[in-house]
Amino acid sequence: MRTLEKILINKKKDCKSIWFMRQAGRYLPEFRKIRSKNKDFIKLCLNSKLASRITLQPIKRYDLDSAIIFSDILMVPYALGQKVQFTKNYGPRLSNFNPEIFFNSNKKIFKKTLHPIYKAIKETRNKLDHKKSLISFVGAPWTLLVYMMGFKKKKNRIDFRQIKNNKIILEKLIEYICEHIENQFRAGSNVVQIFDSWAGLLPKNQLLDFCYKPNQKIVNFCKKKRIPVICFPKGIGRNYSEFNKIVKPNGISLDYEVEPLWAKKNLKNVVLQGGMHPKFLLKTDDVIQKEAKKYLDIFRDVPYIFNLGHGLVPETDPNNLEKLIKFVRNYK
Ligand code: CP3
Repeated sequence: MRTLEKILINKKKDCKSIWFMRQAGRYLPEFRKIRSKNKDFIKLCLNSKLASRITLQPIKRYDLDSAIIFSDILMVPYALGQKVQFTKNYGPRLSNFNPEIFFNSNKKIFKKTLHPIYKAIKETRNKLDHKKSLISFVGAPWTLLVYMMGFKKKKNRIDFRQIKNNKIILEKLIEYICEHIENQFRAGSNVVQIFDSWAGLLPKNQLLDFCYKPNQKIVNFCKKKRIPVICFPKGIGRNYSEFNKIVKPNGISLDYEVEPLWAKKNLKNVVLQGGMHPKFLLKTDDVIQKEAKKYLDIFRDVPYIFNLGHGLVPETDPNNLEKLIKFVRNYK
């Protein structure tokens, strides 16, 4: 069995698994080279050949045991009819949410639009060493809504009651997210990660409806289909504990604000992943290793997947990542 799944499914403690969020991305010169010739980011994600090549770039360079497919969580809103653009130094821009287009979209069009991703997964799985896992991912419903409705700009003025009344939007999103997970799994991915990157925007009294319950529905779907699943409810602090008790995923990815000792004590019956702040990779070798050691020591006697508390930042020196991976591999 592949290492990542050994840990996630069999809760193995005596093997090491290392991968990084955004391991294929702008910090790598070989990615920037392809990106500079492909100005349209969505088109690049839908170019199966290039998506597969980008996915394998960090695998060629480093001693990682998982690849994560090069794509984006915004491919789901895109396939549901919303226009998505990536502007430099600004991030994603989506056209206004149009309920008519959203509710008119169907599974057939959705699957056809995203077919190049499934093809990229199939090609990548074929090229990848059989001992390595291929991870696919989705955005959680709340995080997708944040982009679809432009919520980030109106932080304190989100009308939760109105979205709750509009339950069918959330229900349709959950259904299509599950569809995307299943299609990616059928194409050859081995594990799925659910990114709820904006869960931290939710006030405590909305976490149940907008974070825990939607994640739980998707995790239950994965369990039914026997798809190993990791959740990443970024920014919810000590509510990680409640999240874990309700959602019960195979694995939970810690963000850099979660205290590792607290996590070990309070997150039970789940495999822990990540935690270290990505900004440490901008520091000196000594500082990087000291921080990595903290996580490795604390999680020595529980099943743990080495990763960071969020994605690698574009300023990361690829050599620093190489040294960190070697350090983690050799640390006993
Ligand atoms: O982890 C990986 O290596 C796989 C690829 C991956 C990308 N996006 C490629 C990408 C993954 C897993 C994502 C998920 C994603 N996308 C999330 C969840 C993870 C997180 O960071 O919290 C979110 C919120 C998005 C939405 C998104 N996509 C943003 C906010 C941006 C622009 C700003 C930024 O931080 O880069 C993107 C663009 C994007 N997605 C890039 C990459 C490599 C950079 C695109 C570029 O070259 O300009």
